[in-house]
Amino acid sequence: MSSRRHSIAVIAGDGIGQEVVPAALQTLRLVAERHDFALDEREYDWGSDHYRAHGRMMPVDGIEQLARHDAIFFGAVGAPDIPDVETLWGLLIPMRREFDQYINLRPVRTLPGIPARVVGGDDIDLVIVRENVEGEYSSVGGRLYPGTPYAAAVQEAFFSHRGVTRAAEYAATLAESRRRRVTSATKSNGIIHTMPFWDEVVAEVMQRHPDVTLEKVLIDALAAKLVLAPASFDVIVASNLFGDILSDLAGALAGSIGVAPSANLNPERRHPSMFEPVHGSAPDIAGQGLADPIGQLWAGAMMLEHLGEQAAADEVVAAFEGCLRDGIATPDIGGRPPRRSSRTRWRRGSGSWA
Ligand code: NAI
Ligand code: MG
Repeated sequence: MSSRRHSIAVIAGDGIGQEVVPAALQTLRLVAERHDFALDEREYDWGSDHYRAHGRMMPVDGIEQLARHDAIFFGAVGAPDIPDVETLWGLLIPMRREFDQYINLRPVRTLPGIPARVVGGDDIDLVIVRENVEGEYSSVGGRLYPGTPYAAAVQEAFFSHRGVTRAAEYAATLAESRRRRVTSATKSNGIIHTMPFWDEVVAEVMQRHPDVTLEKVLIDALAAKLVLAPASFDVIVASNLFGDILSDLAGALAGSIGVAPSANLNPERRHPSMFEPVHGSAPDIAGQGLADPIGQLWAGAMMLEHLGEQAAADEVVAAFEGCLRDGIATPDIGGRPPRRSSRTRWRRGSGSWA
């Protein structure tokens, strides 16, 4: 009997979430066994099917059910026939907010065997620290005069001193364990209230970290610089929207959005943290056996690290890096599509492949 047990909520969700989550779990179970700990998994079949049947992405007490676990292993949500605002705000965003997962950590690194997409793309090693619970993704706003020629929409961005401080603090502390550089994504020339405030608070935090160099870059120029000199970045701290956009960009530069992982952290550990790939449900490739499982697997490694299982986490990363080195790859990173006969389907709720 394993001495260490970790209670994991598993939500595969929609689209390729149903493919990459089971694939990643197989590996996580194997390393758990090898490192003598147990993952007590509880699968929740929440997502768009649940929405079609019950009009909600998860039950009314869904957050309470998840609160019992040590961590949440999440795939993706999103279905072409349901508005994204229902799917994302019905499951993903409530988890981030109710569990105060205010840091979204998104490492981007060049992986072996994946051809660089840009000049200088061979040694990318950066981490995006995305503020995860406020900023541009606020629910404050509304619509006026719908259906008339005067139809209008207003959306407020919300930046608090506490919110920006804790994101910047996390980024600075992380940089201290790395190459001691923080790049702050801003747009204080165009967005004249929230972004100068962001700049001020970030600068205030950095004064407490004299060993860390702070560079403030306007988001448009930063996007270009990421393409032109991706290896020059260490830690990037960004608001919710900017961090979201930059992480797809950086993930793609490192090979594919399919390999990019993310951790939604409640650093104080008062609530469960959630681990998911950066990508969404990819309806364009779902059900075809084409999904790259590395983003999900790497998110699993981040989860093991968070649970204190560093050696097992390292082994997961070494395992997918080894596969890549051996040329085992999905089409998004240059591999060949699988033969039809080799395609398998995950049986929902059964915990196994069919
Ligand atoms: P997406 O990330 O699902 O797909 C973007 C492109 O990347 C597609 O061409 C897709 O085939 C490809 N891709 C994504 N993951 C891949 C993987 N593992 N292997 C190979 N290729 C991969 O983003 P998109 O298309 O904008 O959104 C699709 C749905 O997912 C929407 O409903 C959206 O709202 C939702 N979404 C959900 C997220 C989440 O649950 N965290 C995050 C982003 C989008
Ligand atoms: Mg995104």
